[in-house]
Amino acid sequence: MRIILFGPPGSGKGTQGDLVEQKYGLPKVSTGDLLRQAVRDGTPLGRRADALMRQGRLVNDEIVEELVRERLEKPDCRTGYLLDGFPRNLSQVKILESLDRARPEVVIEIDVSSAEIIGRLSRRRTCSGCKAIYGLGGREPRVEDRCDACGGSLFQRPDDKPEVIAERLRVYQEETARIREHYHAKKVYHLVNGSGPVEDVFGRIVAILDGALGEKGAGKALA
Ligand code: AP5
Repeated sequence: MRIILFGPPGSGKGTQGDLVEQKYGLPKVSTGDLLRQAVRDGTPLGRRADALMRQGRLVNDEIVEELVRERLEKPDCRTGYLLDGFPRNLSQVKILESLDRARPEVVIEIDVSSAEIIGRLSRRRTCSGCKAIYGLGGREPRVEDRCDACGGSLFQRPDDKPEVIAERLRVYQEETARIREHYHAKKVYHLVNGSGPVEDVFGRIVAILDGALGEKGAGKALA
């Protein structure tokens, strides 16, 4: 199954993507994580991306295309994947279509108000080791500033400053929200309420994915 999760910054794409990965065994491909890794590794591509990410602007499509192509070519993505944060504009929709001719079966937009997003992101902490996501109201660490899973130290992302969050929200409305109509026309678009406990949001997503899997199974049985 090919799934796309999109939504404004802080809507819970990473949190829910991890849960989907665990439940369905699908690899989560997050362009934000791939870019942050390239920045940490100091690759030429990471150096080009760093300044744009710190300003909350989108990184050039060519950079993202290269990262996604490399990742989707890995064997674990052959039978499916969950994309988190890609595509992020209409030209990236075309890039995805050129990288993988199999269409996404489910595209989910997670909807959360801007006021809630600002509160969430100012409290978010990420594990420096395994990249697990923590935050008040989301998953909270048992020991302050330590990852439950690997014991790594937790840090605040440089793009989680109030002025950068505002820019990321603006970019989302101007560019990313436009992919909604595209996938709506393809009849694969679903809107999910992203507010409330993490498990409740996950339950809404599971209902959509199980419905799609059921349809896929029925289609195969008929063929
Ligand atoms: P990216 O890493 O994709 O960031 P984003 O889209 O801004 O999303 P976030 O990672 O901030 O939030 P999220 O929705 O994953 O929420 P999370 O689960 O962490 O991109 C970063 C940058 O990279 C971009 O600005 C851009 O520069 C660049 N980039 C990336 N992809 C690109 C692309 N394709 N093209 C061009 N540039 C690209 O949750 C947030 C917080 O809320 C956490 O603390 C969590 O614990 C908490 N939380 C989660 N769910 C709940 C809940 N139900 N209730 C309460 N709290 C919750």
